[in-house]
Amino acid sequence: MIVTIDGPAGAGKSSIARDAAERLGFEFLDTGALYRAMTLAAIRAQVDFQNDTEIIDFSESVQIQWDGDRVLLGGEDVSEQIRTPPVTDAIRFLADLPQIRERLSQIQREIAVGRDMVTEGRDQGTEVFTDAQCKIFLTASPEERAKRRHQQLSAMGRPLPLEEILKAQNQRDEEDRIRPMGALRPAEDATVIDSDGMTSEEVLEQVLRTVREIQKGDPTH
Ligand code: C5P
Repeated sequence: MIVTIDGPAGAGKSSIARDAAERLGFEFLDTGALYRAMTLAAIRAQVDFQNDTEIIDFSESVQIQWDGDRVLLGGEDVSEQIRTPPVTDAIRFLADLPQIRERLSQIQREIAVGRDMVTEGRDQGTEVFTDAQCKIFLTASPEERAKRRHQQLSAMGRPLPLEEILKAQNQRDEEDRIRPMGALRPAEDATVIDSDGMTSEEVLEQVLRTVREIQKGDPTH
């Protein structure tokens, strides 16, 4: 069974998807990590981000693997390096290109073959796993998402002004929404969960309830 969880940056998808997978005894796939790894590889190779052909040609030589929790680039674990601002800022140059999306979508489908899996991203229910039995769109208001990120960064000893976080987040939301292929939107058959005012445990419980109702074959989910 495939469970897709899509939604905007900062909606808490990653931790909810990881926890849901664990509780269900499923595997977990963070598709943003694959986009990030491809971007890191391109930065390291000093690919010209203004040149689509160069990006696409380069991407064909990149070896990305997912080991269930970590992302590997040509065998090297790059799970930490992919979370840096230069990577986050450059992802759009790759994520906007249909050829790159097709390649990464193919990798995602190959990873999921024959598995029970919770996959997390932007286009999982709409493009990559259109036949998934359970599709969830996890969202929250921009203010709430920025507030959570602010608290997270402060707890890590790296506080940033809330307005700055909100501004960067709005820009990413816009980039993710207007993308011609793989744009951020709920699938028509997705269950939308708006997590404003909910604790992460409450969100997790709602996700698990949604999956279990579908597992029971309940058509009223
Ligand atoms: O989920 P995360 O924030 O790590 O994703 C980073 C970026 O990768 C997103 O902002 C989006 O541009 C891109 N992405 C995508 N499709 C996915 C997952 C991520 O375009 N399935």
